[in-house]
Amino acid sequence: LKQKYLGQIADAADENALEAIRLGAVGKKGEVSLKMRELGRMTPEERQVAGPALNALKNEINSALAARKAALSDAALDERLRTEWLDVTLPARPGRQGTIHPVSQVTEEVTAIFGEMGFTVAEGPRIDTDWYNFDALNIPGHHPARAEMDTFYMARADGDERPPHVLRTHTSPVQIRTMEAQGAPLRIICPGGVYRADYDQTHTPMFHQIEGLAIDKDISMANLKWVLEEFFSAFFGIEGIRTRFRASHFPFTEPSAEVDIQCSWIDGQLRIGEGDDWLEVLGSGMVHPNVLKAGGVDPDVWQGFAFGMGIDRIAMLKYGIPDLRAFFDSDLRWLRHYGFAS
Ligand code: PHE
Repeated sequence: LKQKYLGQIADAADENALEAIRLGAVGKKGEVSLKMRELGRMTPEERQVAGPALNALKNEINSALAARKAALSDAALDERLRTEWLDVTLPARPGRQGTIHPVSQVTEEVTAIFGEMGFTVAEGPRIDTDWYNFDALNIPGHHPARAEMDTFYMARADGDERPPHVLRTHTSPVQIRTMEAQGAPLRIICPGGVYRADYDQTHTPMFHQIEGLAIDKDISMANLKWVLEEFFSAFFGIEGIRTRFRASHFPFTEPSAEVDIQCSWIDGQLRIGEGDDWLEVLGSGMVHPNVLKAGGVDPDVWQGFAFGMGIDRIAMLKYGIPDLRAFFDSDLRWLRHYGFAS
């Protein structure tokens, strides 16, 4: 028996084979176990000889099993080490890597710059009621600004009791929502997609704006100008960019100003932050008292400035991109050309 089992164990090719041998020999119904059960029927003299011999045999088989098992797993490990080694000094295979879209990159940059100045980010829905998009911003139903905005209206079934909804035409409704939610004082920027039915080299039906709103007890246009000049200098990486405020009109601000940044055109090339030309970049003003009221903020106590600028537009300026539509084409060649993809 000893010869037989030790031989089998030595020949076992893997752990499954070993286990089969173990069951056949020292398992409950194994050959050695059955023999041990027969000890009870032996005479005491016979038992004195056979007992210790069988015990010794069982122990020997068990330790041979354990030794073989260890040897097999050592061999398996050696085999894995041999086949699965890795040369970490080999040059990496060039992989295609995803990159952050330029509009998202610029949004993050803008958010970080205003963050340094104490502005936090607020967001609102892209589908909003016409009350938030217009009425609350001092644009009543008959106001020409509604038509000028090329608004996308959501279709309504007959008998739909819900208020009319629009694809927001600007990020200004977030002003109202945040005033309602947080009250005053307030310092927020609101980045996000907006929609207008318009399409040409500088207009796409969906584009991005960033709204700014600061409300406190002694806010003035001077604060607005300082904040914007700080922002543009940081964004374009040019010290001391000047801005020019031109009187304008928005229903939700009074007074209102369109803001230009300093630039020059040299050989048809636009340069930001130098020269005596001006480039319009955003709309702004002091928040209209009706707008504060609509947001639940008392205009006799609080005042604020607001501005709204096109994210895609300032991205075009920063990277010298002539056609806004390319931002939304997902053309890898274009993204690579401007260094936005690898
Ligand atoms: N909402 C305006 C637009 O989309 C921009 C703006 C925002 C103007 C805030 C003044 C104040 O054109």
